[in-house]
Amino acid sequence: MKTSLEILHVSAECYPVAKAGGLGDVVGSLPRFQQELGHKARVVMPMYRTPYLYAHDWEVVHKSSSNLGHWWFDYTVIREKSNAQGFELFLLDINGLLDRDKVYGYDDDTERFCAFQIAVAHWMNSWDVLPNVVHVHDHHAALLPFIMQHAYAYKRLQYIPTILTIHNAQYQGAFGWEKTLYIPQWDSWKRGLLEWKGTINPLASGIKCAWKVTTVSNSYLGELRHMSNGLEPLFEYEKGKCSGILNGIDYKVWNPQNDKYLDEHFSLVDADAGKKKNKNIICDRFGLDPQKPLFIFIGRLVGEKGADLLPGMIVDSFKFIGRKMNFLVLGNGESETEHQLSQLNSIAKSDYNVYIGYNETLSHLMYAAADFIIMPSRVEPCGLNQLYAMRYGTIPVVRNTGGLRDTVIDMGETNGYGITFNNASVGDITHGIYRAVGIYNQKEIFRSIRQKIMELDFSWHRSAEEYVSLYQTFQ
Ligand code: ADP
Ligand code: GLC
Repeated sequence: MKTSLEILHVSAECYPVAKAGGLGDVVGSLPRFQQELGHKARVVMPMYRTPYLYAHDWEVVHKSSSNLGHWWFDYTVIREKSNAQGFELFLLDINGLLDRDKVYGYDDDTERFCAFQIAVAHWMNSWDVLPNVVHVHDHHAALLPFIMQHAYAYKRLQYIPTILTIHNAQYQGAFGWEKTLYIPQWDSWKRGLLEWKGTINPLASGIKCAWKVTTVSNSYLGELRHMSNGLEPLFEYEKGKCSGILNGIDYKVWNPQNDKYLDEHFSLVDADAGKKKNKNIICDRFGLDPQKPLFIFIGRLVGEKGADLLPGMIVDSFKFIGRKMNFLVLGNGESETEHQLSQLNSIAKSDYNVYIGYNETLSHLMYAAADFIIMPSRVEPCGLNQLYAMRYGTIPVVRNTGGLRDTVIDMGETNGYGITFNNASVGDITHGIYRAVGIYNQKEIFRSIRQKIMELDFSWHRSAEEYVSLYQTFQ
């Protein structure tokens, strides 16, 4: 058995190069833990024009050209010279497609990510020594298993084991058969491996073709068989090759003792005082009352996260529980929710504020300052916010779903430490807030729960080993 593996991760995001959500965090940290386990982990991602690109030194490792249907393009692969992230990081550039400021949200995302995957296959095909495993993340990279196995030009790659990790099955990247030329020439008998419900569906194709499929928590895997945006029968059919591996968190980035985004650091021994200082900073900045418990929400303002329930929850909490708490929301997304949250400022009395936008620094300060984090997610494949929050002594108030179910035990249960509720409804969340305010006022209990959550171990070590064990089943 081979002991040291060469692993190539293919992803649209990788923190700190480019991050739109938790996918970036995972791909920015898992490879480093795999390196620490003695393997060689590499990441390849599109070369967006983000600040990281300009702040680091790069060398060109490969230049060539390939095609997306009839459109020929040149591509370049560069490598970060110092391995600053603890693993080899490659950026792949295609002028006109990948040279953008943002990761997603463009009309030509289908073309961008198809061309990216073709270029990755093309580049890999030129390697003298092929990787032992190609690990693809989400639909932006999920066509690669098909391309590697069935495109005539890449026959050399067909025996490389592939693993698909699904961070979010809501997004599948489907496009019409009129774009069939976007897939490098393939045996048309294999059409069924690309298709789902009349379209080319990259995520479905990845589930069919990857040697193994993982989801980022066990509970989420179970839920996908009943609710996966149309892929339910596929998850049922392919369940034999699917498993759940919970995400970890990167304590080098997420550690209240040395977090580079914080001015006031703290640890388990001085958590009360340290959090109080951060709370004062944030309450001062957002006009909130530091005497009251601070509830935060951080995330994409989309239905999946239950963000549309926040305005109702805030209004009802003030109405039924009283003005006994502060709410601070950080996020961006659906314009209606953004608008409603902004409008709420008109009823605030030093107890509510919102920051519409993406702000990494502010998010760290909020985890450090808050007493509670609210996550009313309708769907939560893993969820990292609750893990970061707990590390920073902030108690989670979460819906019982997906990764939230696997990481938060209600304080009413044996060894519990969070507050959970079952329905994504204003009533259920407001009841959770009512319970939280009660706990906040019982200082000893509150303090002991804070200590307990800060000590929980959600580090990557166990999960990184689980991935490696999975890879080893291929060798
Ligand atoms: P998802 O990937 O579905 O958005 P996760 O809980 O896995 O959810 O990860 C979200 C990540 O993105 C966390 O690191 C969180 O702090 C961060 N995040 C989300 N929205 C914002 C925002 N508006 N500003 C700063 N960080 C954000
Ligand atoms: C996705 C999920 C989130 C998960 C993240 C990282 O964006 O929505 O729950 O934590 O990926 O795996």
